[in-house]
Amino acid sequence: MTIKLKYLPEKLIVGHDYIDSQHDALFRLFDKIYNAVENDDDLSDLDKVIKKLVDYVSFHFKNEEKLMLKIGYPNLKEHKKEHRIMTRRVYEYLSRFKSENESQRAIIIDINDFIKSWLIEHIADKDMNLAEYLK
Ligand SMILES: [Fe+2]
Ligand SMILES: [Fe+2]
Repeated sequence: MTIKLKYLPEKLIVGHDYIDSQHDALFRLFDKIYNAVENDDDLSDLDKVIKKLVDYVSFHFKNEEKLMLKIGYPNLKEHKKEHRIMTRRVYEYLSRFKSENESQRAIIIDINDFIKSWLIEHIADKDMNLAEYLK
C-alpha cells in the first residue's frame, strides 16, 4: 500500500490504489455530510455538499467502468448494471430533496446513509472481485 487512506474502513480496502483512494474520498464526504447536518449548517451548504457527493459517485463509477473496459473485465456488464441501478435511486432521492416538504435534513441523512450502506456492500463484493482480477 503506497497511499494513505484516512476514511475508508480497513475491511473495505481492495488493494488497488486508484480505486481505494476514490473510495476513501467518498467516505470522507459521508463524514462531511454527517458533520454538516449535526452542525446545523445552512441548507444551501448542505445542498452543495450532497451534490458534490452525487457527482463524485458518478465520477467514480465512470472511472471504474473505464478501467473494466480497458482490461476486458469479464463481469463488466453485471458490475455496470449495479452502478446504474444505484445511480437511478440516488436521483430519486435527490428529487425528493428538491420537491417535498419532508425535512430536508432528514432526506440528506437518508441519501447519505443509503449511498454509504450500498457502497459498503458493493465494495465488499463487486469492487473486491474487480481488484482481485486486476492483480
Ligand atoms: Fe467502487
Ligand atoms: Fe463498482
